[in-house]
Amino acid sequence: MRVTINQIKEMKQKGEKIVMLTSYDYSTARLVESIGIPMILVGDSLGMVVLGYETPIPVTMDVMIHHTKAVVRGTSKAMIIGDMPFMTYHTSTEDALRNAARFIQEAGAQAVKLEGGITVAATVKRIVDCGIPVMGHLGLTPQSVYQLGGLKVQAKSLEAAKRLIEDSVVLEQAGAFAIVLEAIPFKLAALITKKISIPTISIGAGPYCDGQVQIINDILGLFTEFVPKHAKQYVKMADIMSGAITQYYNEVRAGQFPTEKHSFIIDEAVFKELEK
Ligand code: KIV
Repeated sequence: MRVTINQIKEMKQKGEKIVMLTSYDYSTARLVESIGIPMILVGDSLGMVVLGYETPIPVTMDVMIHHTKAVVRGTSKAMIIGDMPFMTYHTSTEDALRNAARFIQEAGAQAVKLEGGITVAATVKRIVDCGIPVMGHLGLTPQSVYQLGGLKVQAKSLEAAKRLIEDSVVLEQAGAFAIVLEAIPFKLAALITKKISIPTISIGAGPYCDGQVQIINDILGLFTEFVPKHAKQYVKMADIMSGAITQYYNEVRAGQFPTEKHSFIIDEAVFKELEK
C-alpha cells in the first residue's frame, strides 16, 4: 500500500515535517522514492522545466497522464499526486470529475491537486465525495499568471491576506487533505498552518508550514534560466552534465570512445569464414 492521506494528516498532528518533491519521469521518480519522500507531485510545472513553455498553460490532460504514468511505474510506496492542468476543472463539475478520475484510473495516481479557493470549493467537494483525494493550491497559482500579472508574491495586502485565510478554511471544509501555499509571506503561512487542521505545504511560503515542496529541476540546478528566491540549488547538475557531454563529444571526435571494451565480439571461427 502506498502512503495514504491519513498518514500525511497524522504527520501534521505529530509535528513531523512533510517532504514533497516533483518528478516527471520514471528514473527520477525511482530515485526520489528511494530517499523515502512520501509524496511525489507530477506538477504542471513540467510545462516549463521539461517541455520549455513559458507558463504551465499549454499543458494538457494527455501530457499530464503520460508523465504521471511514468512516475507511477517508477514507484511503489510514495503517494503520487497528479496536477490538474489549466481549464480541466473549471468548465463544469462533470469535466473536473472526469479529468480527476483519469489521473486515478488511467494514470494510477492516488490524489489530484488543483488551484484556487472559494471558486473551486464545490468542485473539490464533489471530487472528494466521489472518493478522490484532493490537494488544494493557494497564493501564487501559476495557471492564473495572466490574471495575477506575473509570477509574483501574493496576499501582501490586508484584504488579500484575509481572502487567502478564508480560501484555506473553505478548502479544508470542502474536504481537501492538504494545501500547497505558494509565494506568500511566511507569517501569513504560519497563521494559516495554525488555523487549519490539514497540512500546509510550502513553496515560497516559509519554514513554518507543515511541509515543503520544491520543483526537482530547481533543487538539482537543472533549470538554468533562473533560480526562484524560494529555491535552494543543492547541486549544479547542469554544469556536471555539461562536463560529461563535453567529455563524450571530445572522446568521440578523438577516436577514444568507444573502445573494444564497449563493443561486442564475434566467434573467431565465424569471422574467419566471413573473411574468406
Ligand atoms: O506544478 C507544480 O510543480 C506545482 C508546485 C509548484 C507546487 O504546482
